[in-house]
Amino acid sequence: MAGTRTTRAVVLERPNVPVRVEELRLEGPLAGEVLVRMLASGVCHSDLHHANGDWGDPGPLVLGHEGAGVVEEVGPRVDGLRAGQLVALSWYYPCGKCGACAEDAPWRCTGTRSLQHRLPDGRTPLRRPEGTEILPLLAIGTFAEFAVVPAQAAISMPPGTPVEVAALIGCGVTTGVMAALRTAQVRPGSSVVVIGLGGVGLSAVMGAAVAGAGAIVAVDRVDEKLARAREFGATDVVASTDDREATLAAIREAAGGGAHFAFEAIGLPATLELAIDALRHGGTAVAVGIPPFGARASFDVGVLVDRSATIVGSNYGWSNPALDFPRLAELYLEGKLPIDRLIEERIGLDGVGDALDALARGEGLRRVVVFEDHP
Ligand code: APR
Ligand code: ZN
Ligand code: ZN
Repeated sequence: MAGTRTTRAVVLERPNVPVRVEELRLEGPLAGEVLVRMLASGVCHSDLHHANGDWGDPGPLVLGHEGAGVVEEVGPRVDGLRAGQLVALSWYYPCGKCGACAEDAPWRCTGTRSLQHRLPDGRTPLRRPEGTEILPLLAIGTFAEFAVVPAQAAISMPPGTPVEVAALIGCGVTTGVMAALRTAQVRPGSSVVVIGLGGVGLSAVMGAAVAGAGAIVAVDRVDEKLARAREFGATDVVASTDDREATLAAIREAAGGGAHFAFEAIGLPATLELAIDALRHGGTAVAVGIPPFGARASFDVGVLVDRSATIVGSNYGWSNPALDFPRLAELYLEGKLPIDRLIEERIGLDGVGDALDALARGEGLRRVVVFEDHP
């Protein structure tokens, strides 16, 4: 019989009102689900998109989608997970039944209910004490002491992985690193441009460095980010300004006349257009950042044809979390991905509101919620 417990959690009642820590009821795990005691959860720009209303108003949400914890209890009909295991949570759990899932391409899954913030059976495990339903963001809602998640969202991590590193692998690191390694397939000697140096963009820089890129040109409008980018493998930095032509010229020059691969890691049409214009012949622009609903961008069609260029979207870095999360952790443990350098500050659940404000101002790298009984 599945239990009901209480958990403290960060609730967004609706966009553009401050988040609040509340005590909620949590039901489960039912069949196919696991209960996770959260250990760490990064504050990512997608949490801010929800808080800002960029992505509509799905109803009261527990925010957080970049988390790791320990399996506390396993529901019926769950294979391969047991209590005590360290897991990182995927925010796009695969349905296991659609064509994309059959092709091992879970980032294209069409049957998941994660974008509706619901478990596979359509329910939410969270309620206020008086009974109001609360949705867990992307079906995981990691700014909470406990979460009940689909078993396929809980990915077992190698022993020795620091919990904050496991958490960051849950979103920003995988999105950025795998955009470089899988979507773009950056090659040794490639010339790479990364626009936007938050957790996602710096992870794309790390991924390009692991792939052996030649030039890695890091672009941001905040000087502090440019200085930090070199620690992750950037060879050149360009401060982007309102003077688009000057910014573009500086990027193209630093990239040796144009980029083989240009990554947009902000989610703005203007910077995607900049990435496309930064390409050399045969180059590929990779759209990684997710814009507000309905955003459209444009490009010079003649130039695109003339350069035989490619524009490609990369959701979650085209990752297969079950395989790629542990591989990224191994790369960290081998000293090849400095994921821990992304951590700006450790905070409590009470600090999430301020962390979202700092993210909106472009200040600092990842702030990570760590929970009190952190080992
Ligand atoms: N020009 C250049 N840099 C910019 C601009 C701009 N117009 N606007 C913002 N930036 C920079 C910020 O200074 C910051 O360094 O982009 C970076 C964005 O970083 P974060 O806010 O930390 O975002 P992150 O969590 O990395 O996510 C980036 O990926 O997954 C998506 O939803 C996510 O769309 C978001 C994107
Ligand atoms: Zn994220
Ligand atoms: Zn599917």
